[in-house]
Amino acid sequence: MERTFLMVKPDGVQRNLIGEIVGRFEKKGFQLVGSKLMQITPELAAEHYGEHKERPFFGELVEFITSGPVFAMVWEGENVISVGRLMTGATNPKESAPGTIRGDFAVTVGKNIIHGSDSADSAVREIGLFFKEEELVSYTKDA
Ligand code: CMP
Repeated sequence: MERTFLMVKPDGVQRNLIGEIVGRFEKKGFQLVGSKLMQITPELAAEHYGEHKERPFFGELVEFITSGPVFAMVWEGENVISVGRLMTGATNPKESAPGTIRGDFAVTVGKNIIHGSDSADSAVREIGLFFKEEELVSYTKDA
């Protein structure tokens, strides 16, 4: 079954949006298979956001993502990567539709509440960066 990495960023944690975000994915029908509240180190931030290393906002991005705890999660389900992106909304909240997480709760691109893997390769890479295999569970649900 497909898995994706989702992370409530420091602004989402500060604004008490963990429950709201977890609730949306639960109600959609996806399954939480791993989660933790954690502080990202500058090293992990640089690795996670490695593809943005040359961007002018890289320093700001690392500073922000390490500014307070994040809530890291692994979700499982059919097409969870692409559907998770739809539920998250466009990166820039100026363009994210109402009904999406960023569309409903964010106004700036830097503080945009949530991160989600953008492809199958990113999902594998990001899950591996944040979780050990034994921190993830596999279980069947009836409903
Ligand atoms: P995310 O999905 O976590 O992946 C990369 C992040 O870079 C993105 O969300 C934004 O929060 C951030 N980002 C993109 N563009 C900018 C920008 N112009 N200024 C600050 N942060 C940005």
